[in-house]
Amino acid sequence: MLIDTHAHLNDPTLYADYQGVIKRANDAGVAEIINVGFDYPSSVMAVRLAEKHDQLWAMVGVHPHDADSYNDEIENKLKKLAASPKVVAIGEIGLDFYYDNSPRELQREVFRKQLALAKELNKPVSIHDREAHGNLLQILRERDWQGIGGILHCFSGSYEMARECINLGFYVSFGGPLTFKNAVNLQDLAAKVPLERILVETDCPYLSPHPLRGKVNEPANVVYVAQKLAELRQCSYEEICRITTENTRRLLFNSR
Ligand code: NI
Repeated sequence: MLIDTHAHLNDPTLYADYQGVIKRANDAGVAEIINVGFDYPSSVMAVRLAEKHDQLWAMVGVHPHDADSYNDEIENKLKKLAASPKVVAIGEIGLDFYYDNSPRELQREVFRKQLALAKELNKPVSIHDREAHGNLLQILRERDWQGIGGILHCFSGSYEMARECINLGFYVSFGGPLTFKNAVNLQDLAAKVPLERILVETDCPYLSPHPLRGKVNEPANVVYVAQKLAELRQCSYEEICRITTENTRRLLFNSR
């Protein structure tokens, strides 16, 4: 079995047929799915879905794109949501300097606030980082949230960055881009980061893996990512399933 550690069944594209999406995932051997919030309403939806279905889990948080929607009231509401036993982490949070949908200073401020929230709630985080590697590392190194741990979702940094984040207690998660033909650096890195710190995800409905690139993505397709990892690590597909599932359980399900 596999666990998709980053999905958005709370996105309208997938929500419209979410039961079909879950069934196709199960048929493909994807037994559990973690739905990730990107703003307050999508966080509520992720929790509602998780409370209705045993095999679904949730993360709650505000994406850097929506940093300007974050305030004390939203923080308190997220705290209440996070009290659900189905909420396994705070996410997705982070920095996006590619789209710059929110001012960078505000992105940094809201990222720090949610790291502090995760620390307070004793939960790991799921981190979105697009073209903000330097700033992101700087913030993760700050003393206030050492030890919270979490996931670098759809990792796109260097091997050196992966090493440092692993030392800081993070796991590196791979999605569809790992299967892209031009992803040589990412594939090199995936072949050598410690196996016990690797996770798999889809980020569906985005980032469909090869050979489905450009189509609507869904959790069943995390199989392609695991197959690519098996090829890169020169081990069996079953081994990747076993290790990534163990890793997910250790980080998100066991200690909380
Ligand atoms: Ni996402």
